[in-house]
Amino acid sequence: GVAISSMLSSSGVVTYDPGFMNTAACRSEITYIDGEAGILRYRGYPIEQLAARSNYLEVSYLLAKGELPTAEQYAAFEERVLRHTQVREEFRALIRAFPRTAHPMAIVSSAISALPGFYPEVFEVTDAESEELASVLLLAKMPTIVAYVLNHVNGEEMLEVDPSRGFIEDFLRLALGASREEEFGPEVVAAMDKLLVLHADHEQNCSTATVRSVGSADTNLFLSVAAGINALSGPKHGGANEAVLTMLEQIRDEDDDAGSFVAKVKDKSSGARLMGFGHRVYKNYDPRAAIVKEATDSALQALGKRDDLLDLAMGLEEIALSDDYFVQRKLYPNVDFYTGLIYRAMGFPTSMFTPLFALGRMPGWIAQWREMMHDPATKIARPRQVYTGPAERDFVAIDDRR
Ligand code: ACO
Repeated sequence: GVAISSMLSSSGVVTYDPGFMNTAACRSEITYIDGEAGILRYRGYPIEQLAARSNYLEVSYLLAKGELPTAEQYAAFEERVLRHTQVREEFRALIRAFPRTAHPMAIVSSAISALPGFYPEVFEVTDAESEELASVLLLAKMPTIVAYVLNHVNGEEMLEVDPSRGFIEDFLRLALGASREEEFGPEVVAAMDKLLVLHADHEQNCSTATVRSVGSADTNLFLSVAAGINALSGPKHGGANEAVLTMLEQIRDEDDDAGSFVAKVKDKSSGARLMGFGHRVYKNYDPRAAIVKEATDSALQALGKRDDLLDLAMGLEEIALSDDYFVQRKLYPNVDFYTGLIYRAMGFPTSMFTPLFALGRMPGWIAQWREMMHDPATKIARPRQVYTGPAERDFVAIDDRR
């Protein structure tokens, strides 16, 4: 449809572009997407190569600094991050103060907003060193926060961090260790790492645009990222992975089959969408979805969990990809169509899927905030509007209104 048009306003011509379908708000060197061709690259490196050969911490370094670290730089970075994974007891008490029924995203968002209150030394970024410290601190504490939030809603104890383990391995142990007898094997740790790499950045998506928009007021890193987390909680954005699982469970429990569910979606009167399908920029198969789809089977095998919902998801995909409705609108599975199935097999409850997305996206938010802060072209985000309300009219006293 027509998304962009020009309007005359009192102060000249403004473009009207709902959802910023055609308006670039910044220039960026971080992530390249070609939605028509299904291409995604971080700092020029294809996502397929990074998913296969890199890891979350290395990608975090790459996104923020622009280059892959040397072995020495990587070791120093990893060591520094691992030194900051712990959170203070008072901070854990903050998480425990929430009702256990609270949505984990509400607790994660509040916890990130609270961080600069607990670590005032990172509130203001004044030079390169404080910028690096703020970034490392946020990156390091995020998995601990996500794990403790899960512990809290599950009514389980919060284990102490163990910096002698790898970053992702320790996250899985903190998050799920209390309820598991055995530790996860290296395949499962690698699968988790890969999912986080796939989520690490995606240029100006809703949450990242939010981080930049809030940060453009010179808002500190933590409060800018907290705003991004709130944006991510929406079901059209990060909440989609949760919505996919809810949809699959509903189809299974209502004894519906994939075909009749797709028919309901096409009918539109039900308002149901095929969650995990469609994307603002990909008008082709989401390259991340292809990688996750491939990883799902092996992850489920490593976990020893066969899931009937995987068959249902694959059935839905097959029907949708050969259906005119989806073909004409170029609706393909996005990254979240399959991620929930892996998370579920690992033992994460559905309500934790969006916090996991937030954990994955953290390196991108940090890198984008930093890039914006260093860009001399940055201006406070302040869109225009096209006013459509009443013309001037006189106030009416309350007793005279009808
Ligand atoms: N199921 C059924 N129909 C859909 C779907 C879907 N998942 N997505 C889009 N459509 C249809 C719309 O009804 C519309 O049809 P029309 O032309 O007949 O009116 C057309 O496709 C275009 O859809 P828009 O909503 O205009 O596309 P937009 O780019 O604004 O939305 C979005 C993209 C929000 C992702 C959408 O595809 C959607 O709601 N998908 C399901 C939720 C989802 O999976 N979100 C995750 C996004 S990826 C991420 O955050 C990692």
